[in-house]
Amino acid sequence: MIMNRREMLVGAACATTGSLVSSPGVRADDFSERKKLQLPELLDAQTTGRFGLTAMDGAVSFTGQATSKTYGFNQDYLGPTLRIANGAVQARIQNTLNEAITVHWHGLLLPGVQDGGPHQKIATGESWTPQLDVSQPPSTAWYHTHIHEHTARQVYQGLAGAIQVTDGRDRDRGLPDAYGENDLLLVLQDKRFDDAGRMSYRPHMMDLMHGFVGDRILVNGQTDGLAVVPRGIVRLRLLNASNARIFSLFLEDGRPMHMIATDGGYLSKPAAVRQLRLSPGERAEVLVDFGKAGSTSLMSAEDANVGSGGMMGGMMGGMMGGMSRMMDAFRDRSFVVLPFSVDDRLKSSIDRLPDQIDSDVPNLDGKGIRQRRISLDMSMGPGMMHGGMGAGFAINGRPFDIERTDFTVAKGTVEHWIVESPMLAHPFHIHGAYFQVLSENGNRPGIENRGWKDTVLVDKQVEILVRFDHAAADQKPFMFHCHILEHEDAGMMGQFTVT
Ligand code: C2O
Ligand code: CU
Ligand code: CU
Repeated sequence: MIMNRREMLVGAACATTGSLVSSPGVRADDFSERKKLQLPELLDAQTTGRFGLTAMDGAVSFTGQATSKTYGFNQDYLGPTLRIANGAVQARIQNTLNEAITVHWHGLLLPGVQDGGPHQKIATGESWTPQLDVSQPPSTAWYHTHIHEHTARQVYQGLAGAIQVTDGRDRDRGLPDAYGENDLLLVLQDKRFDDAGRMSYRPHMMDLMHGFVGDRILVNGQTDGLAVVPRGIVRLRLLNASNARIFSLFLEDGRPMHMIATDGGYLSKPAAVRQLRLSPGERAEVLVDFGKAGSTSLMSAEDANVGSGGMMGGMMGGMMGGMSRMMDAFRDRSFVVLPFSVDDRLKSSIDRLPDQIDSDVPNLDGKGIRQRRISLDMSMGPGMMHGGMGAGFAINGRPFDIERTDFTVAKGTVEHWIVESPMLAHPFHIHGAYFQVLSENGNRPGIENRGWKDTVLVDKQVEILVRFDHAAADQKPFMFHCHILEHEDAGMMGQFTVT
C-alpha cells in the first residue's frame, strides 16, 4: 500500500492522462519551493461570546500565476477559525456578495432556527444575527454556505471555515492546544486550475456523477504548504472541506496516527490508525509523533469513488475495459497532501500520548426503537446522461423539494437508521443530531467511526443510532443529505422536523 519515493515518482510519470479524472500530481521530494503552511486567523469568541463574519469577494493567486475570483469570510478565501465555548454565542453574518448565501454550522447541535440551512437565506446587503445556544462536548466543527442548489459552487469559491468548540481543559487532558504551533488545523480541499492558473469550476456530466474532484490539493487554501512542527507530539485537526474528494490519509513512512476525536468529540483514548478515510464533511483529530522519527508527509490514496471499485468500474467496466484499467491506475496512486518539517527550535507541549481522554462515548440503546430506511439513489438512465444537473439524484426515490417535509421525529428520542448506497460511496450527513455508527456492511465500524458522528461514508450499507435532542419546525427544518456537494445540489437531500 505504502509506496516509496521512487515508486511514487514512477506512478506520477505513468499516469499523465487527465481527461476524465486527474490526480494530484505532487511529487514527494519536491519540497524546497514550498512555503510555510498558514493557518486561518483564529477568531477567539470564548470570552467575548460574540463574533462577526462578513462574506466578501476576494482575489487569490493560488498557483503564483493568474488571480482567481474567490469568496471568503473576513478575508479573500475561506474564513477565520471560530473558537467558541458553551453558552450563548452572538453571531453576526453580513453578506456583501452579489448573491444570497446561508451560513450553516455543521457539527454544532443547535435548534433548526439557528442552523443556517437553505431556508435561512441572507440576501445581498443583508445580515443574519442568530444567537447560538452552544451546549456540546469539545469538538472540531465547521461552517459553510448551504444555499439551495448552489452550495457546491459557493463552497468551492471559498465560503467555509472551521469551528473549535472548547471547554479550555485540553491541557488537563494532556492534549496539545496551541493553535498553529502544536495544534494544527488542516482544511483539506482539491481544485482544478485552468492554463492561466485560475481556479476553475465547470462540472461536466462525469463530475456531477461522482462529484467534482480536483487535481491539486489545497491545505488551508494553500497549494504549496509545508507544515513546520516541533519535535514531539502534534495534534492535527483534519477537516475535509472538498466538494467530493474522499481522502484515505496515511503517513509516508507508515507511522501511525493516533486518533483522538471524530466529528462529535473525543474518543475515550487514543486509537492508532495507519490509514484514515475522511470523506467530505467529516472531521478527525489525530496525534502524530514527530519525536524520534522526525519529518514525514501526510499522503492520501486516490479516491475510491473515481476508481474501478466505485461506480466507474461497476457501470462502465464492461463497456470499456481499457478505461477501467486506467481507472485502476488512478486509484492505486498515492499523492502528497502535506509535507511536515521538524524544527528543533520549536517546543512541543507533550511527548507522550495521554492514556485516557475524558469523553462521553456513544453507547445508545437500539432496542425497540423506530427504524427508518434511507436509500441514497442515483438513477443511471438516459435522463442522467443527457439531463445534466438535477437528473437522477434522490433519497428514497424523491429528489429534494424545499417545500416538502419528509418526516417528523419525536424530540428526545433515538432512531435506528439503515442508510444504503448501492452504486457509489456517499458521505451521509444529518443536521442537528449526532449518531453512533452501529455497523458498516454488517461489520463492527472502523476506528474512524467509533466516536460520535454527524457525517459517515456509506459504501453500500451503514446502520446508525441517531439521538434527536434539538427541535426544528416546518419553517426551519433540518436537512439530511449526501455531502458530495454536487449530489446535494442535484437533489440527494431531504428535510425533517423534530417536535
Ligand atoms: Cu455540511 Cu448540510 O452540511
Ligand atoms: Cu450540517
Ligand atoms: Cu453522493
